[in-house]
Amino acid sequence: MTQPNQQPSQQSSQQSSQQPSSRQQPGGQQTDSASSASSATNTAADAPVVVVTGATGPAGIETSRRLAAAGRRVVAVGRNADALTALAAGVPGLAATEQVDLTDQAAAEALAQRLADKFGRVDALVHLIGGWRGGKGFTANSEDDWKFLSGNLIDTLRHTTLALHDQLLAAPAGRAIIVSAKAAGRPTAGGANYATAKAAAEAWQRALADSFRRKQSGRKTDPVPQTAAAVIGVITAIGDKPGFTTAAALADWVLDTLDEPDADRINGERLPLPANPPAGPPADAPPIAPAAGSPAAPADASPADAPGPAAGGGPA
Ligand SMILES: NC(=O)c1ccc[n+]([C@@H]2O[C@H](COP(=O)([O-])OP(=O)(O)OC[C@H]3O[C@@H](n4cnc5c(N)ncnc54)[C@H](OP(=O)(O)O)[C@@H]3O)[C@@H](O)[C@H]2O)c1
Repeated sequence: MTQPNQQPSQQSSQQSSQQPSSRQQPGGQQTDSASSASSATNTAADAPVVVVTGATGPAGIETSRRLAAAGRRVVAVGRNADALTALAAGVPGLAATEQVDLTDQAAAEALAQRLADKFGRVDALVHLIGGWRGGKGFTANSEDDWKFLSGNLIDTLRHTTLALHDQLLAAPAGRAIIVSAKAAGRPTAGGANYATAKAAAEAWQRALADSFRRKQSGRKTDPVPQTAAAVIGVITAIGDKPGFTTAAALADWVLDTLDEPDADRINGERLPLPANPPAGPPADAPPIAPAAGSPAAPADASPADAPGPAAGGGPA
């Protein structure tokens, strides 16, 4: 398990992606009756409330840390009690932790109600629940893998945004943010389940953006300024490799997106996140010119969320 004070790594992402059941509570359906442990907070009582789902994953840990340090009241959501306890111990200033399985719609609704009762507002949702499964070739896209991926990548997003929609809309600068994968637009045979789930999550997110627009600047009568935005960030993968995006860069992008004053400009947009620069040749190596006619390296050289080399038989 990744500890909050560790640098999130590709390996820890792989672990959480590959072993979801190892972190589930007995029965796998821990819901709202579970802990709502508050940790010491250094955030102001009127600071924006940001819900980070998948807060115990590599991106979630770094994002929770970054947002808490920036004075947001961060509610960190995950399924695993031990991971949440470690998060609260390692990330100072969390407003609360919530142990919720967001594949359970009633649990998501109960979470939204608890947040309304406790804080009276939710300003942003940063939805960072992930997971990857795939195989060698198209026919390896199993039913089990689809159920896992559609549950983690689509259902948790559906449930959470349905439950928080009205609170996000009412916030001074409501934001719903997801991190998608280039694979959604460039599926591989063996990663069809994954790419399809990510593409569906993107469609859902754009529909949410449409709702925000219709309720604000797009209202037929008495339009109001657009303050809410649903945004899709796109990466190849999280990590330190060339072309990947570090968890720290992802967290910075999330903070920038929360701070973006022009909601209209970003609502419904699919925005590339900063990526690590390509690997350069060793300092003492002579430059190598590509052979005439040789294909360029794929921009997206590894399956997103993937636990290793191209399990799907090619770039994501
Ligand atoms: N990792 C990558 O290379 C990559 C590539 C492209 C896009 N992305 C996207 O970037 C985001 C962050 O990625 P990540 O690797 O940090 O995510 P992750 O580790 O796969 O997932 C983050 C956390 O989500 C929690 N979670 C899983 N199912 C849940 C559920 N039903 N209810 C509540 N919590 C649940 C898990 O915590 P518990 O153990 O507590 O359940 C897990 O630690 C994801 O949306 C992912 O799809 C990642």
